[in-house]
Parts: sequence; C-alpha cells; structure tokens
Amino acid sequence: MKPILILNGPNLNLLGSREPEIYGQQTFLDFFEELKELFPDAMLEYKQSNHEGQLLDWLHATEGQYAGIIFNAGAYTHTSVALADGIAGITTPVIEVHISNVHKRESFRHHSFLSPVCQGTISGFGLTGYQLAITALIGS
Ligand code: DQA
Repeated sequence: MKPILILNGPNLNLLGSREPEIYGQQTFLDFFEELKELFPDAMLEYKQSNHEGQLLDWLHATEGQYAGIIFNAGAYTHTSVALADGIAGITTPVIEVHISNVHKRESFRHHSFLSPVCQGTISGFGLTGYQLAITALIGS
C-alpha cells in the first residue's frame, strides 16, 4: 500500500496550546507518534502549513504517490474555493477531518467548500478523527 499523508492547515501547528478547551492539550507531533505506533504498517507522513498556496502545492504534488490524504484545512475549509478546486483536480482520495464538531460552533463554520469534493468528512471526535480516517482509508 502507498503511504498516507496527513495535511494540517492554518493554526494547527498550535495544537496543545491553542484553545485547549476546544482542541485539547496534546501537540500534533506527540499525537503523530501515537498514530505511527497504532498503525505500524500504514507509512504515515505529516505536513502542516499556515499558507493556502503551500497546501495547494502539496495537494498537486501528491498525485499518484499516496493511498489517500487526511486533510484538516482549518479555517480555509470555510473560505477556500482554491483548495476545493485543488482536491477536485487530483485523483487521490481526500478525507476531511475536523477536531471539533464544526456544526456545534459558529454558523460560519457550518459551510465547508471542501466537503463536496472529499470522500467523506469526520468532525467532532477530537484527534481520534485522524485515527478514524486512517481506518477508513486502509479498510480495517
Ligand atoms: C478545525 C475547525 C475550523 O473551523 C477551525 O478554523 C480550525 C480547526 C477543527 O479541526 O476543528 O482551525 O478545522
């Protein structure tokens, strides 16, 4: 099986200290170590950027290389036609993940430009959402 790419967007580099009552107290790098132990055969890779164009460049560069992309686009979820077009333009399956339940929060978080072009969406299960997405991709 090809590797799986976890792609995190803006402000997700601050996990652990950013609004811990919403996003928890664990850094993503610590959680990523746990994920690799949970899925030793999955060949997980992780990238994070605060820049829309960088995220788009990485989406384009993944073509053919990954079994799937687990994408938390952060606030770009609610604003970015460019990222939606980028996902639509590649054949790699993309799973949209949100740590918080975006539908329980402010109304501007209820719309996702990305959901219609993703294979599925996981929202509201904390960091476990990434684990659920890996399970969905590897089919076990
Ligand atoms: C988020 C939800 C977004 O609305 C927010 O802008 C984020 C994080 C989440 O993981 O819950 O940055 O994607």
